[in-house]
Amino acid sequence: MIRAENVTKIFGSDPESAIPLLEQNKTKDEIRELTGQTVGVNQASFDIQRGEVFAIMGLSGCGKSTLIRCINRIIEPTAGRIFFKHPERGEQDITELDEEQLRALRKQHMSMVFQHFALLPHRSVLSNVGYGLEIQGRGRKDRQDTAQRVLDMVGLGPWGQSYPAELSGGMQQRVGLARALATEAEVLLMDEPFSALDPLIKVDMQQELTRIQRELQRTILFITHDLDEAMRIGDHIAIMEEGRIVQIGSPEQILVNPRTEYVAKFVEHADPTGVITAGTIALPLDSEEFVPSGERDGIVYRHRHDQPQIRYGQDREGQLREVLVDGQAVPLRRLEETLGEDAVRPVPSERSRVVLTCGEDAVLRHILRSRLYSTLPVIVTNGDGRLRGLIDDPELINGILEKRGHIP
Ligand SMILES: Nc1ncnc2c1ncn2[C@@H]1O[C@H](COP(=O)(O)OP(=O)(O)O)[C@@H](O)[C@H]1O
Ligand SMILES: [Mg+2]
Repeated sequence: MIRAENVTKIFGSDPESAIPLLEQNKTKDEIRELTGQTVGVNQASFDIQRGEVFAIMGLSGCGKSTLIRCINRIIEPTAGRIFFKHPERGEQDITELDEEQLRALRKQHMSMVFQHFALLPHRSVLSNVGYGLEIQGRGRKDRQDTAQRVLDMVGLGPWGQSYPAELSGGMQQRVGLARALATEAEVLLMDEPFSALDPLIKVDMQQELTRIQRELQRTILFITHDLDEAMRIGDHIAIMEEGRIVQIGSPEQILVNPRTEYVAKFVEHADPTGVITAGTIALPLDSEEFVPSGERDGIVYRHRHDQPQIRYGQDREGQLREVLVDGQAVPLRRLEETLGEDAVRPVPSERSRVVLTCGEDAVLRHILRSRLYSTLPVIVTNGDGRLRGLIDDPELINGILEKRGHIP
């Protein structure tokens, strides 16, 4: 949907003088010393798919705002190219558009949301939400209907006739979000939209955005300096340092495999429980920890070498068939069944009488919770029901504290 190739922005009187130095890998400080120019963004490249939330994260001053403003050319990039997949015209190079084409692009296809939403104080909430549509030249009735629908969506249905000053900060932020969503632009550029909010309201807004996004499937470029926020919202995350993108990956890839010291520092304080998955932490069945444990009626058994009392039986296709604890088959149950609201929590003595199974994409939080229902290892199966591995306390603790997969 949006593809950036070596986008670079140098601030100063002679930006071109800094370009060769970037290519020689000089640091931002060295470049300032040698040329007096400030590196805003340094050769940023990425590819954003239609319908995804792409989060850009990094410390203050690392170039996030400069980069997002280069995308719609509120800031003119010094070098690099930006491609946009136009719904009718195919791929457009944004850096080659003239003023008029650029205005049309911003009006119809790319909507920008700022940290301070800058609502118009003398207009009602409804009219604020419809403002973008007004600019697009849509009729009054159409504007009002759309604005009301989006206002309902962000939970402010009854507030349409109020004025911004009558609303709390969090509510005003919702109005700003509604205004961006109402335009039906397929790309939303959001520069730290939640950073000024109180922590609890911030989490509300993150959930709200995720919920709305599930329905609307916009393409969102979301900037934040908060890694937990980036992980809650982003399908992919790009981490920026001194103008450069130092790593791009899924939230789990970033957490489990930080590529630089700088990324590792962010990761150290992040909450892994909603991000790291069963497939990552499970001890694989083919690891050396498992030893053969006999065979009967076409079922092949194995056990973890230090846990001979728990034996895992698979058929020849690798499908999980049964688990024996002290020679007795115990019932298998899907993890999801223990997470439902009506799941009955067993008395403690029965927690060793059921084995839970889950898919590779179950997250840590859910596996942890399942320990209330069973103290036996959780079995991880892949899409077609074959046994992949298991998760016991060491794997869980390793995942939470070290944010790493199983230790080979
Ligand atoms: N208009 C400008 N003139 C000169 N330097 C700027 C300008 N805008 C931003 N910068 C510099 O570019 C770098 C990146 O800034 P910015 O993109 O605002 O960072 P972030 O949004 O990540 O906090 C900083 O060093 C900042 O001082
Ligand atoms: Mg900024």
